[in-house]
Amino acid sequence: MVAGFNLLRTPRIYFGWKQSESVLGLIGRYGKRVLLVTGSASYTRNQGITEIITTLEKAGCIVHHARIESEPSPDDVDNTTGACRGQDIDLVLSIGGGSVIDAGKALSAMLPITDSIRDYLEGVGTKKHSGKRKFFVAVPTTSGTGSEATANAVISFTGKNGFKRSLRHENLVPDMAIVDPQLTLSCPPEITAASGMDAFTQLVESYLSVKANVLTDALALEGINQIHKNLLTVVRHGGDTEARTGMSLAALLSGITLANAGLGLIHGFASSIGGLHDIPHGTVCGTLMGVVNRYQVSALMRLSEVTAAHDKYEKLGRLFSGAEKKSPGWYMEYAVEYVETLTGQMNLKRLGDFGIKGSDLMAIAEITDHKSNPLHFEKEQLVEMMRERL
Ligand SMILES: [Fe+2]
Repeated sequence: MVAGFNLLRTPRIYFGWKQSESVLGLIGRYGKRVLLVTGSASYTRNQGITEIITTLEKAGCIVHHARIESEPSPDDVDNTTGACRGQDIDLVLSIGGGSVIDAGKALSAMLPITDSIRDYLEGVGTKKHSGKRKFFVAVPTTSGTGSEATANAVISFTGKNGFKRSLRHENLVPDMAIVDPQLTLSCPPEITAASGMDAFTQLVESYLSVKANVLTDALALEGINQIHKNLLTVVRHGGDTEARTGMSLAALLSGITLANAGLGLIHGFASSIGGLHDIPHGTVCGTLMGVVNRYQVSALMRLSEVTAAHDKYEKLGRLFSGAEKKSPGWYMEYAVEYVETLTGQMNLKRLGDFGIKGSDLMAIAEITDHKSNPLHFEKEQLVEMMRERL
């Protein structure tokens, strides 16, 4: 029998090559005073931004432009909402990577209120956001976080007492997501690899999650299939339009599955490590993806009963290998080998490249949350996992 479930609404999704060219011209229907949020990436800096502003102005919009240079901090959000007071903004449009979309999502939620965003961050503030916000449109230019379909915005404060926490409410799912793979063409190989591994991690973790359901499983498997077919190609041949399209779909699906099924231990590490050290989110996820999955499958092999996670790793092994008539254990081990090989091919930096030392690892393990992971590990095991990727 199919187990019961509920699913968040998704944005109105426009997906496809060059979709943004026509759809951006329709934005004026939803609001005339637009807060446009972009990053410092080459796409918005060099090629598209003037045309986008022209398109919006032709549609009758008045554009206020804000740039977010890196993962948004509480001050970034508070300062931008402060600067926008009196502008009577009625629509926020984010065009950029995950940080830019998270920033726009947070701004759309904070524009109607005057408090600092710190007051509403999970584990930091004490107030609950009402969910009331400005109309929000997300246009990703990388294939990674899936933030165009999620209900949270990640806000970072790095350093001693640093944190990486979410502003979360089910109403924060964007109203509209314009997913145009053409916009990802200029994404450089290193960012393509890290963000692609983020999407891969999100798909696998939401698939294995204890909160997964029949719909998130179907979407996660299709996303993982797209990663399997396209991630290595897109890192080596960034101009491959078919591979770029597959990765845009994988990232979008990862956003829908993580918003509904949650994430696992690797994203627990991404929060704890990312709060203490200035390390890109996709790099933490990607660098730990192989080792954490190896520990998981080893632990599952030692269990006497067969769990849902056994079955799911077996299905992943079937998908990755294409092989038939192998034993369940063979497929599970193949799944891990595949993930470790792909992680190696991404040539991602290691934790030590960002100044993390062996003596830091226990403190990180102490504050690492397992989220919706199907297995629980002792702190010493968490340290061992990180040490392998120092
Ligand atoms: Fe992620």
